[in-house]
Amino acid sequence: MKVAVVGKGGVGKTTVSATLARALADAGRSVYAIDADPNNCLAYALGFPPELADRIEPLSEMTDLLAERAGTAPGQGGIHVLNPEVKDIIEEYTIASNGIKLLVMGTIEKGGGGCACPESNTLRAVVRELVDLPDDLVMDMEAGLEHLGRGTARHVDGLIAVVAPHASSARTILRIRDLAAEIGLKRVAVIANRVTKPEDRGRIQESIGDIPIVAELGQYDGLESDCTHDSEAGRRLLTDLAAQLPAIEAAVTA
Ligand SMILES: Nc1ncnc2c1ncn2[C@@H]1O[C@H](COP(=O)(O)OP(=O)(O)OP(=O)(O)O)[C@@H](O)[C@H]1O
Ligand SMILES: [Mg+2]
Repeated sequence: MKVAVVGKGGVGKTTVSATLARALADAGRSVYAIDADPNNCLAYALGFPPELADRIEPLSEMTDLLAERAGTAPGQGGIHVLNPEVKDIIEEYTIASNGIKLLVMGTIEKGGGGCACPESNTLRAVVRELVDLPDDLVMDMEAGLEHLGRGTARHVDGLIAVVAPHASSARTILRIRDLAAEIGLKRVAVIANRVTKPEDRGRIQESIGDIPIVAELGQYDGLESDCTHDSEAGRRLLTDLAAQLPAIEAAVTA
């Protein structure tokens, strides 16, 4: 299964992405995780050792490399390469731990109204390459919807939108679905996060129309303070999500 995890700021995208990747790895599957969020927290959430996580440089900061592959480096004539060769980039920048391979992509900032299309093109090529591998793929996206316009996640099977009761918003989710459809992504499933009261699920469902809630997670006190989930709360979260993995997978790959 190849998914991108999206949603509003702070709803639990990184938490869900990391736990999903861990659940897949625990099930014996080969997993690629992509951190496409500028705050680059996924390595910690995945439980990568700090000495490894601390050294990571996001691919998006390798501007010379990205520009060279995109054909826009000085002296290359400025002709954009549409399908840049990126296999070696993936090999060089992937780090692995806990049975999970991680690529920290970062995101490209659009400087001063200028377009960062060529560099985005290279990052998109990285995702397309990974989608062609037999491994599962979980992408932790930045908050908001702008990345859908850039199409970084366009080649995945489907989107998982994380929604929390306090942050549910029909407009956001329906907009996500529209933008996803525009880039050819038809499958959007919702994971309801931080559901603590019986009415929470109904409230979320009301706000997302006919998009299915495929999994439900509670409130795991003790997660809050850190990115790492090697805590009692983290393990409960993992167990709960793992039990719902078949439903999640069915929704995004069917
Ligand atoms: N079900 C939960 N129970 C308890 N704490 C949670 C839960 N889900 C997320 N959190 C906590 O809420 C905070 C925000 O979660 P997370 O970083 O996963 O959100 P995010 O959507 O990735 O945020 P951002 O938009 O900043 O990338 C974190 O401290 C995380 O540990
Ligand atoms: Mg995040």
